[in-house]
Amino acid sequence: MQSRKTEPGKITDVVLFGADTFASLAWFCLTNDSLYRVQAFTVDASYRSVSSHEGLPVVSFENLSEHYPPDKVRLLFPLGYHAINGLRRDRYQQAKAMGYEFISYVSSRASTWPDLHIGENSLIYEHAIIQPFARIGSNVIIRSGAHISHHCQVADHAFVAAGVTLGGNVVVGEQAFIGLGAVLRDGLRIAERSFIGAGSVVLKDTEADGVYVGNPAQKIARTALQVTGG
Ligand SMILES: CC(C)(COP(=O)(O)OP(=O)(O)OC[C@H]1O[C@@H](n2cnc3c(N)ncnc32)[C@H](O)[C@@H]1OP(=O)(O)O)[C@@H](O)C(=O)NCCC(=O)NCCS
Repeated sequence: MQSRKTEPGKITDVVLFGADTFASLAWFCLTNDSLYRVQAFTVDASYRSVSSHEGLPVVSFENLSEHYPPDKVRLLFPLGYHAINGLRRDRYQQAKAMGYEFISYVSSRASTWPDLHIGENSLIYEHAIIQPFARIGSNVIIRSGAHISHHCQVADHAFVAAGVTLGGNVVVGEQAFIGLGAVLRDGLRIAERSFIGAGSVVLKDTEADGVYVGNPAQKIARTALQVTGG
């Protein structure tokens, strides 16, 4: 399928997944800081407790294509890290199978370079720093003030919370979660679905599905799925 490119200066209609405060944040940023025009919100039918949000319709995801078909809108998923980012991964992949295309949002207040590599359906919020040679995958969320040093790789479906510092050459695996203000020593490999607790200082590579907290960060008994629900 031919990808529909966003034409410079042209307003593109978008539907956001979610109808909570995190969806409101993305709606506000897109409305005030992009040429994307949010048309509606969409949630799973079982979570559709309101019919409007921020003055816009809330439609069930199951019926999305009836109201907003793939040739009319693009999607963006400002979803949190439930089920160690598995919910966001699943809905993104479902929407892709339904024929939707996606936008990515990079705040005009983020610090980026002309070589910015970023996939689709990703969000980079204000005052995040993405240094040259860093690569950001698809369906990734980088929150405000995060520092992604040179040659870091943030894989698909990962979530990097506000104020995180990644040293150079760090690899953040698929679906990994890096909590508020965590510091990761340069060159580390954060395994897929690892969970790094808020404020942790990580000095060693991590294991898949592990939860790490403290300074220096230590692995605890619970799994990432257990601490994030799902
Ligand atoms: C790790 C985490 C999931 C644990 O949450 P929880 O299951 O509610 O656990 P509790 O708060 O009951 O804490 C359990 C124990 O772990 C300790 N602990 C919890 N989080 C910790 C952290 N980030 N660093 C160090 N110790 C931590 C607590 O002090 C407590 O210790 P104790 O049993 O000796 O009293 C949570 O504290 C955390 O860091 N979440 C990330 C939040 C975040 O970054 N959000 C981003 C929003 S965009």
